Amino acid sequence: MNTKVFKSSFSGVLLDWFKVEKRNLPFRDTKDPYKVWLSEIILQQTQMKTGIEYYKKFIKRFPSISMLAESYQKEIYSLWEGLGYYNRAKNLLKTAKIIAKKHNGVFPKTYDELIKLPGIGKYTASAISSICYNEKRVVVDANVYRVLSRVFGIKTNISKPKAYKSFLTLSNILSKNTNRIGDYNEAIMDFGSVVCSPKKPACWSCVFKTNCIAYKKDIVNALPVKASKKKLINRDFNYYVFENNNRLLIRKRTQNDIWKNLYEFYLEEGKNKERKLQKEFEIQKIKPVITKDKGLLSHQKINIDFNHFQILNGSVFDKIKKELGLIEVKADKINRYGFPKVIANYLNSYC
Ligand code: ADE
Repeated sequence: MNTKVFKSSFSGVLLDWFKVEKRNLPFRDTKDPYKVWLSEIILQQTQMKTGIEYYKKFIKRFPSISMLAESYQKEIYSLWEGLGYYNRAKNLLKTAKIIAKKHNGVFPKTYDELIKLPGIGKYTASAISSICYNEKRVVVDANVYRVLSRVFGIKTNISKPKAYKSFLTLSNILSKNTNRIGDYNEAIMDFGSVVCSPKKPACWSCVFKTNCIAYKKDIVNALPVKASKKKLINRDFNYYVFENNNRLLIRKRTQNDIWKNLYEFYLEEGKNKERKLQKEFEIQKIKPVITKDKGLLSHQKINIDFNHFQILNGSVFDKIKKELGLIEVKADKINRYGFPKVIANYLNSYC
């Protein structure tokens, strides 16, 4: 099936799957926007199983929005305990009070009105307006990113702000042929939880198996692409530039590390790790005594100090070369070697 045809059949196939596999969730026996709102707020950053327990507890204590509006923050916090992200609990009460006062206790019906309320963002406004009122608003949540990136083989990094818009556009195209947009939204979320799950997806039973690009290319577990959570690390590099009679001492980086196979000066890494080379070899630093530079790699920030030594005595120079295992290079031949950018910059300016 070509992509265009497949796209136009997507919502139909998904909704047929939903008819059979729809999860029986307590907030699905109603189109009451209060209950849908409450469930959607609870389910953000909460597992379904846990969310259901909290939802039941809340509905039992506050069966209507007017009862919630008359409650106190303290009581809501105590019911919310264990869910975390207490801002969500705070906004529940704020929104309930606004609806009670400004909307005569009637939940707003449209996306544009809903999104003005505290704690209601694009996702929640789309979910409520589509599920309760069938407004044509698609949701884009983690399930949607996962399902669509896999089925259509999209490698966009979903942590990037522009990803939201592209998945929203695609989901709008895919849902064009349905007038059951609330069901479409719930179906894609169920499908993402039950079949196209983050770990061990049930590809063998998937209704999109024959068209799924990730499945065909065997890259299901690589999608969606997310920014690596690697932390930025700081490193301190102290370089020693030994110079004598237009000769410099360098070495090759061979470790499995940044700049592998490039050349560098003698290096001591770490804070306050400077060896007392000055004393050791009885040599004098020349200006610039210390030149600071920075190298920024994807996950590493390198603070670099250059300590430049003009060595007058040739035999001291030879001794340093031997003891530190360095290579001697004539200054006018140094550009035959590959250096990291920061070192090349230093060479251009000072050597
Ligand atoms: N996760 C959050 N809201 C959901 C919903 N309405 N249906 C399925 N999964 C969900």
